[in-house]
Amino acid sequence: MQTFRVTDDVYAIAGAEPVPGKGFLPVRAYVVLDRQPVLIDMGVVRRAPAFLEALEGILDPADLAWMILTHPDLDHAGALPTLLDRAPKARLVLNFISTGKLSASLVPPLPRITWVNAGESLAAGDRVYHFLRPPMYDCPSTVMVFDGRSRALFSSDAFGAFVPQDAPFLAEDAAEAAHEGMSDFCRANSPWLADVGPESYARSLRAVTDLEPAWLLSGHLPAVPGAGVRRLVERASLFPVEGRPHLPGQQALDAALAAMGRAA
Ligand SMILES: [Fe+2]
Ligand SMILES: [Fe+2]
Repeated sequence: MQTFRVTDDVYAIAGAEPVPGKGFLPVRAYVVLDRQPVLIDMGVVRRAPAFLEALEGILDPADLAWMILTHPDLDHAGALPTLLDRAPKARLVLNFISTGKLSASLVPPLPRITWVNAGESLAAGDRVYHFLRPPMYDCPSTVMVFDGRSRALFSSDAFGAFVPQDAPFLAEDAAEAAHEGMSDFCRANSPWLADVGPESYARSLRAVTDLEPAWLLSGHLPAVPGAGVRRLVERASLFPVEGRPHLPGQQALDAALAAMGRAA
């Protein structure tokens, strides 16, 4: 796991999970350094110790004021149980549905929770974070978060992609492969896209470009500068007509096991 700086005040905590036959799925959480420091998502459960070490390289978790959970999947809430102890001043920001889903694995610390729904905002120190429903998601409580000061859009699962190689930033010559990997990941992660009305989907994508983000910071993609957002969104506009992706079956699993020299 590594950390890198996206802007003066926004840092990424970056990992990449190998996915057989697909390459890698980047996994990102972000830290906004400010008078009231904010952590957005908390990594993969299995890698929680490495995540905490990486976070400590950016700031003392005890200084965190807010921890925003975009949705309670195991690749976003990984270090949360530990951070509730290690970041005692931080309020946990999520919504009603995320709180309910989280309660399957831990007792929600209700006095430390702030509920913010899509369409609402959070004032945190010198900045305002706008919470919006993303154009793609695999959990009904998912929000994307737009920081009005850095103009970074933290899009959670939306615009995530399988990539041949992970990197901090999405380079021009890697964009095309990432766009195809985005189609693969997002249509699998949001299979309902095949059923969505074209006008409402177009509207949800327009909501992204209308923000004119300086950075698109997905939970599963190298950082995309503002100049690359329109092309990314244009590629994403094709998902409903591309339909549901073909998922690997048992034969593919047998082949992968054989390649590793292990019988099924
Ligand atoms: Fe998810
Ligand atoms: Fe995710």
